[in-house]
Amino acid sequence: MTQTSTPKKKYDVILYGASGFVGRQTVAYFAAHPDVQTSRLRWALAGRSRPKLEAVRASISGANKAGIVVAEAHDTAAMDALAASARVVLSTAGPFALYGSELVAACVRHGTHYVDITGETPWVKGLIDQHDVQAQKNGARIIPFCGFDSIPSDLSAWLAHRAMREQFDEECVRVKVAFSLRGGFNGGTLASMFNMLEQGQMAQMADPFLLNPPGSRPAAGGMHADPVAPRHDGDFSAWLGPFMMSTINTRVVRRSAALLGYGNDYGYQEYLRLGRGLAAALAATTLSVGSATTQAVLRLRPVRWLAKKLAPAPGEGPSEAGMDSGSFRARWVGESASGHKVRGEIADQGDPSNRATTKMLCESALCLALQQDELPGGRQLGGLLTPASGLGDVLVGRLRAAGMMLKSDSGQPNQPKRHKGRES
Ligand SMILES: NC(=O)c1ccc[n+]([C@@H]2O[C@H](COP(=O)([O-])OP(=O)(O)OC[C@H]3O[C@@H](n4cnc5c(N)ncnc54)[C@H](OP(=O)(O)O)[C@@H]3O)[C@@H](O)[C@H]2O)c1
Repeated sequence: MTQTSTPKKKYDVILYGASGFVGRQTVAYFAAHPDVQTSRLRWALAGRSRPKLEAVRASISGANKAGIVVAEAHDTAAMDALAASARVVLSTAGPFALYGSELVAACVRHGTHYVDITGETPWVKGLIDQHDVQAQKNGARIIPFCGFDSIPSDLSAWLAHRAMREQFDEECVRVKVAFSLRGGFNGGTLASMFNMLEQGQMAQMADPFLLNPPGSRPAAGGMHADPVAPRHDGDFSAWLGPFMMSTINTRVVRRSAALLGYGNDYGYQEYLRLGRGLAAALAATTLSVGSATTQAVLRLRPVRWLAKKLAPAPGEGPSEAGMDSGSFRARWVGESASGHKVRGEIADQGDPSNRATTKMLCESALCLALQQDELPGGRQLGGLLTPASGLGDVLVGRLRAAGMMLKSDSGQPNQPKRHKGRES
């Protein structure tokens, strides 16, 4: 493993939003991470409130060596100073459309790598339009979607693409992912969703190619339409229904497909796996009707007002026990034009929105901080990237080492679990 410290910058990694619900978990993860200790990584907690940041640092064993950086999200000078002092910024301050734009702009200006856990596709579309060219010039890897949205999807598609090439020397024309999960909701996630609804961004969110680079919009759009109906799928031997996060994840995978050249005929879809038998068929049907109804009623202002009142507030989330008992499993199947199939899965224990998201985000930042020379595209690559195009196999390796199961037909056994960060 290479430590690529640049002496000019004060910190290797700054954790922005460190006093938030997920932010506190990222601090605990960093504090307990063996690579952070052995590489003598210089890291800091950042956010708008010094007292809150100091309280977080004091409450987490092993965080005492971390610095503190105070910077309000709309203070351009503070954002500039923060980005200038870091090689990598990891952000959990969301809704990102409200608190993320100045930070990304500053990272692009200073050639600072950036990762976050946004699922706000219209916001990222704006970042692509505004910053992609400059980030390429400055060698800044700007990589949103490094949480449960959308790393399991993006890496499933990447592993399927590679397995098909390695085993059959062909391209996948179709990749499907079926998710099973158990977990809770954070107030911050719901706030981000409500913000997108209030900004009237539903039409943008419905565009299957929202995040594709200019000129890479496939002609045959029909096969990319978001699934709305229940279906029985022989590849998974199960009933499937619409998956709530798929309108985020599929856009990210399609951007990866264009950036990494998965092929002109490439199609990607994902679903929620409901299981086998009559009960599963009924559940899939109920889910399909329920999803469509929820989307329709959430357009109504009074319904949103009520939903906000009932939902957890920003800063709140599931209990520690609830987060420990969660899990996710993403089974994937890739198919070539000649009918060859490859299979695999990605799975982990712990609440997907918190435990798995924290692991994926922190390991993404550590890819950039500790293994820059091994990343796809070499040291100079920059731009508005996806997890697969910006981190690729380095991230696959780090997640395996951190105990996540990422399996594909091409083999590569998992390595044993290494550590687990927790607040003290
Ligand atoms: N991809 C995924 O799977 C996934 C999973 C979970 C969450 N998320 C997303 O991650 C984000 C955070 O979630 P969360 O549950 O951690 O939310 P949260 O607890 O509400 O945290 C929000 C953070 O933003 C900070 N913030 C608010 N206003 C600010 C400002 N003006 N300047 C600087 N910082 C400001 C807050 O600082 P204070 O502490 O000072 O209030 C806090 O640190 C949300 O957008 C959510 O959708 C994504």
